Amino acid sequence: MKFYIETYGCQMNVSDSELVGSILLGAGWEPAPSIDAADLILFNTCSVRKHAEDRVLGRISNERHRKQLKPALKIAVIGCMAQRMGKRLLDSDIGVDYVVGVDRYLELPALLDQPGGQDTDFDFQQFYPGLRPLHGNKTCAFVTIMRGCDNFCSYCIVPHVRGRERSVDFRQILSEVRACGDNGLKDVTLLGQNVNSYRWGGYDFPRLLRELNQVDSIQRLRFVTSHPKDLSDGLIEAMAAGGKICEHLHLPLQSGNNGVLKAMNRKYTIEVYLRLVQKLRAAMPEISLTTDLIAGFPGESEADFSDTLQVMREVRYDHAFCFKYSEREGTSACGLPHQVPEAERLRRLQEMIELQRGITLAKFSAQTGKDVEVYVESLSRKSQQMVSGKTRDYKIAVLSGDATDIGKLKTARVMKATAGTLICA
Ligand code: SAH
Ligand code: SF4
Ligand code: F3S
Repeated sequence: MKFYIETYGCQMNVSDSELVGSILLGAGWEPAPSIDAADLILFNTCSVRKHAEDRVLGRISNERHRKQLKPALKIAVIGCMAQRMGKRLLDSDIGVDYVVGVDRYLELPALLDQPGGQDTDFDFQQFYPGLRPLHGNKTCAFVTIMRGCDNFCSYCIVPHVRGRERSVDFRQILSEVRACGDNGLKDVTLLGQNVNSYRWGGYDFPRLLRELNQVDSIQRLRFVTSHPKDLSDGLIEAMAAGGKICEHLHLPLQSGNNGVLKAMNRKYTIEVYLRLVQKLRAAMPEISLTTDLIAGFPGESEADFSDTLQVMREVRYDHAFCFKYSEREGTSACGLPHQVPEAERLRRLQEMIELQRGITLAKFSAQTGKDVEVYVESLSRKSQQMVSGKTRDYKIAVLSGDATDIGKLKTARVMKATAGTLICA
């Protein structure tokens, strides 16, 4: 019997899909080479914005027709939407057979022996110890170091669907990172909703990083996400010490206005945030900074929104993920008065994206003439004679090369840039 997993949402879901792959493999299932060959299709879903959910619901109902051709085919919804919607998914008419939540993946094989069903109870102790995720034929790896989130930013569904924060055993992380390197996955990204609050035994996050920096078989070490409220001097020092730890930090700002940040329950002020940026740049002048921003949070005035644009101009992020606010049932911001009209959210979002596009282009163009180190991940989609990869500071770069370069570090000179790619010689 063959399974096929389609993954939506953040890197945590990508990592969980690899875990689920490993659990199914252990239970005698095989990965299907394509969706057409599958006896079981799993949709690993995201609930972070309404749009993300609507897309998956559309995808599932699109695949339902396969059941007419293959009556034994089963469809499972796993991940954050499974957790959030539970039985409602089974009751819908889109052809879902199983609904399995984020802490129940070990129970999945047993559930699949039944004709259908649901398992979505939380288990706040669940770390999936001892499991080796099925990384597949990749060059970069995600390694989960924490599950859940305790921050309850007022707009965010994640703490509601992922449960309480817990840190993975340091020894498990170390052995996983070693195994990645040994298997040719030399660029490792540590994952957690807020890695800065990692704590296991005597290990905090900077110590974890310093220890993993010693793993010989990997070349690069990255991590997401850092909550600004918990970014310590110790972390900045660990990053500045360099080695395998890359010069890139994703530091979500969300809004550039203190009133909005307070209403978002972000627990830092813009002054504190800007001081962090200063410290980071003092310690690592070349560090690249990326961020997440939300347009149109309830009560955000035009002036509040301009504050965000102002901070974007001041910090000059290398890249920003911009979102328009989406009401999530069950979050504390959902019922707030003064919701910003949808059309206005969209207008603000577009303004943000436009501003950032110019900054990104300028930042990327400033690399022209420099030599960069590229970890080659794949053949370029555009040309047969080109390969594509990332620089240490998390910029996509293309350069000439062939399949034998995949998995290798190459030094290349940047000839020109677009707002998203460095084009190297
Ligand atoms: N723990 C991470 C990732 C959370 S989800 C972090 O704190 O950064 C990724 C991003 O989605 C968030 O940073 C936020 O910008 C965005 N997001 C979360 N909930 C949202 C909502 N209800 N509407 C719009 N964007 C949202
Ligand atoms: Fe959501 Fe905030 Fe937790 Fe990130 S830190 S997952 S934005 S609640
Ligand atoms: Fe990630 Fe979406 Fe869940 S952002 S944690 S997959 S709600």
